Amino acid sequence: MSTIIIYMSLHGCAEKAALILREFAPEKVDLVNLSLQDPPELDNYDTVIIGGSIHMGTIQGKIAGFCNEHEWELLTKRLGLYLCHMHEGDEAVQQFNDSFSKPLRDHAVAKGLFGGEFNLDKMGHNEKMLVKTALGVDHSITNINVKAIEGFGRVIFHLDKS
Ligand SMILES: Cc1cc2nc3c(=O)[nH]c(=O)nc-3n(C[C@H](O)[C@H](O)[C@H](O)COP(=O)(O)O)c2cc1C
Repeated sequence: MSTIIIYMSLHGCAEKAALILREFAPEKVDLVNLSLQDPPELDNYDTVIIGGSIHMGTIQGKIAGFCNEHEWELLTKRLGLYLCHMHEGDEAVQQFNDSFSKPLRDHAVAKGLFGGEFNLDKMGHNEKMLVKTALGVDHSITNINVKAIEGFGRVIFHLDKS
């Protein structure tokens, strides 16, 4: 089995999630950060995990574009999809549904809402003002759901099979 995690991460949370997820993998997992690296060829992988994060209601455009462009190929893979986010409940589910197409969501064996963090140290002045005024956040908060990441890992890496 060969696995790749393709992700984007503005302040490092979706990357942290990818690294935590990789810890649960029984075999080598390649990581590709689409902000820094070219989109990979998917031919060599049978398991593909796509992860991104939500800012002002949307996932990174490059992740959406990659999913769109490679949808037919992703539908032939063992697929996992995850998001980092801070809104909870129905809103988080809605953001997930808006981020990934229905065919990909229906095909995915693992779907993850991994929570997120507000890291004010990594934000510039304007972004700090934005999260303060739009979201009422004036201090750093970490709310990464490691249990959700582990549950996702158990499914995507077949850890529960006997
Ligand atoms: C400017 C800004 C806008 C955000 N907008 C949303 C949002 O609309 N919905 C949400 O659930 N989380 C929102 N968040 C929270 C992010 O999804 C959260 O910080 C996440 O951990 C970011 O992951 P990343 O560091 O991998 O990009 C926002 C965060 C920032 C800084």
